[in-house]
Amino acid sequence: MRMVDLIEKKRDGYALTKEEIQFIIQGYTNGAIPDYQMSAFAMAVFFQGMNDEETAELTMAMVHSGETIDLSKIDGIKVDKHSTGGVGDTTTLVLGPLVASVGVPVAKMSGRGLGHTGGTIDKLESVPGFHVEISNEEFIELVNKNKLAVVGQSGNLTPADKKLYALRDVTATVNSIPLIASSIMSKKIAAGADAIVLDVKTGAGAFMKELDDAKALAKAMVEIGNRVGRQTMAIISDMSQPLGYAIGNALEVKEAIDTLKGEGPEDLQELCLVLGSHMVYLAKKASSLEEARHMLERAIEDGSALEAFKRFLAAQGGDASVVDDPSKLPQANYVIELEAKEDGYVAEIVADEIGTAAMLLGAGRATKESTIDLAVGLVLRKKVGDAVKKGESLVTIYSNREQIDDVKQKLYENIRLSSERVQAPTLIYDKIS
Ligand code: URA
Ligand code: CA
Repeated sequence: MRMVDLIEKKRDGYALTKEEIQFIIQGYTNGAIPDYQMSAFAMAVFFQGMNDEETAELTMAMVHSGETIDLSKIDGIKVDKHSTGGVGDTTTLVLGPLVASVGVPVAKMSGRGLGHTGGTIDKLESVPGFHVEISNEEFIELVNKNKLAVVGQSGNLTPADKKLYALRDVTATVNSIPLIASSIMSKKIAAGADAIVLDVKTGAGAFMKELDDAKALAKAMVEIGNRVGRQTMAIISDMSQPLGYAIGNALEVKEAIDTLKGEGPEDLQELCLVLGSHMVYLAKKASSLEEARHMLERAIEDGSALEAFKRFLAAQGGDASVVDDPSKLPQANYVIELEAKEDGYVAEIVADEIGTAAMLLGAGRATKESTIDLAVGLVLRKKVGDAVKKGESLVTIYSNREQIDDVKQKLYENIRLSSERVQAPTLIYDKIS
């Protein structure tokens, strides 16, 4: 086989065979196929697309390009959740303990964040003592015992995806549905998921800004999962404004605690119940989505979800007393209110720009080398649709620097008020299974 022939075949709109796709991915991973040929290939896929079978083969070829995680020693069906990314997305922190508390094993491999806030691990590390440097044996033991553990990403998962994603980033080929879908699904499958729940975001703060694109991506990922024997379901949810109120690491841990008590923001709680009931259902712990939802609602009401969070934190060295006393989490030196300049209704809170404002405070990493400040961030006091009076707080800013004119300006520019009444946006647009 010659790469040039395969590029030509795809350029002219033909479907590739399993063997051809494996040849490309193996060759690219081991260096036999150079970046310039892979770039041309990615561009051919960008224009010609791939059918469902090709996309599934591409996914599995990337899964097999490196290590895969064996979770077979964990009892039960391991369901993983993946979000395509958003601003102030606190769902993972809530969902882990929530579904674990009804017996669903959550073996979470997670990363550090780049961008507006930290990743799940950064957020959890705002709990004093908590660490993710545990051995594979301990990880498996903890999931069997507590139904929940989080470990840092191990070295060599899906090297083909790492290399290809970096190449796509500089060749204008990121935005291709088969390439995105196979990239995301390969990572979940390599990390050992038996079943997968996807939260595909749409709106200003999302990767897929348009609803139709988000739906197409969700369908492509569900199709891959079901073709390769991993039951997959997807939710399309709103990311035009940030999710919940808190954006920032310790602030989101506090928000997760509130939500596990049933006292969190309505949108975050609802999305967690919907995603969570899909996880419980796929784990076969309930025979319908309705039954699964009732189980989760009960776990919040009777305190077992909160107990699961405490147990999980303590098992990985964390000070679980933060759950009862969140003032033990890192605290910012300055707490500043952003006051509304006029009366009106909140018409828009542009999610990605608000995320950038949190990053300016130090809540996220601008580059891989930046360090993050776990204490800082934003707590929205109003959401789209809310009425606001001049002088009322729109946002509480938690900062470790006194001078924050840059942050305030960014927030004012991206929280638009209207004199007319505004409808709150739809939270969940669609479900695909
Ligand atoms: N996220 C991924 O992991 N891969 C893509 O291709 C796009 C977004
Ligand atoms: Ca949030």
